[in-house]
Amino acid sequence: MRRAVVEGVGKYLPQRVVENAEFEKTLDTNDAWIRSRTGIERRHFAADGETTSDMATHAAKAALAHAGKTAADVDAIVLATSTADLTFPSAATMVQNGLGMTHGFAFDVQAVCAGFVYALATANALIVSGQADRVLVIGAETFSKLMDWTDRSTCVLFGDGAGAVLLGASSDSDRGILSTALKSDGRYKDILFVDGGVSLQTTGHLRMQGKEVFRHAVEKLSDTAIDTLAEAGLTTQDVDWIVPHQANRRILEGVSKRLKVPMSQVVMTVQDHGNTSAASIPLALATAQEAGDLKPGQVIVTGAIGGGLAWGTAVIRW
Ligand code: UT7
Repeated sequence: MRRAVVEGVGKYLPQRVVENAEFEKTLDTNDAWIRSRTGIERRHFAADGETTSDMATHAAKAALAHAGKTAADVDAIVLATSTADLTFPSAATMVQNGLGMTHGFAFDVQAVCAGFVYALATANALIVSGQADRVLVIGAETFSKLMDWTDRSTCVLFGDGAGAVLLGASSDSDRGILSTALKSDGRYKDILFVDGGVSLQTTGHLRMQGKEVFRHAVEKLSDTAIDTLAEAGLTTQDVDWIVPHQANRRILEGVSKRLKVPMSQVVMTVQDHGNTSAASIPLALATAQEAGDLKPGQVIVTGAIGGGLAWGTAVIRW
């Protein structure tokens, strides 16, 4: 059985760190509200002119270095983002160029906060089907460019960054991506969206009915995780780590409770990164890897939900 195994992880965070207190200067908000309602303490914002593909290229290089590979070893790049540098070409082709790759192929995937899981499932399919042997899967976002800085209910939540995972083909049937599930339901398109786009001739700003999204998040993430584990012949008792999309600490606590996996086994980076949309899972994976938390053979469940609504889960044996 051909599997896609994680060979390396890497991350990049822009230099500028914005603490919650900074928002107190311009908005009717405070550090205590943001911490208690979201778990967020700080986030990184990209510098002027620092683009999604710049950050993605840094993260990709870090993942390659971690794996001891070079761009010459990569067949494809799948990049999850909703904040590409330009309308086209894809940010993935910009990363390809940044890595000095003139072979293979590269494309973007857009499923907002669920984007990294969609990209991971797509890369897994490319590898399992034999179309590629090694794929860089990247999540990279500059959500700071989509904020309405007068809307306290959204602008304090998001941050910028990039994370990358290098997947390689393996005949070790016990390791790698064991199962994936992708889901969406467009009936909910109006509870989280950007009110601009090419057709409207504006970039637009992020608009969210936070409470509504929250309502769906815990249930959909937990139930999909249970189904995806079952498909791999596992249960929640087999889980070593949950590496969820980092939107809100209270959502992670809800998932932890529903899955009966303690918070000590939930990787949490939301306090330092905020919500980085498609970048949040690979950033969390790279952070946990750097801390020495992820050990070979461990079962990791990763899942995300966001605009669409679109959501998905993947079960990985590290
Ligand atoms: O990544 C994509 C998926 N996104 C998510 O998963 C986000 C899901 N939603 C959430 O995380 C939460 O719903 C939020 C953090 C967005 C909001 O938390 P909440 O507990 O649902 O608060 P709320 O929207 O019900 O607002 C409660 C109060 C409101 O005031 P009133 O109407 O009760 O007077 C808000 O106006 O908190 C107010 N509020 C704020 N107060 C201080 C909203 N934002 C702020 C703020 N500072 N930044």
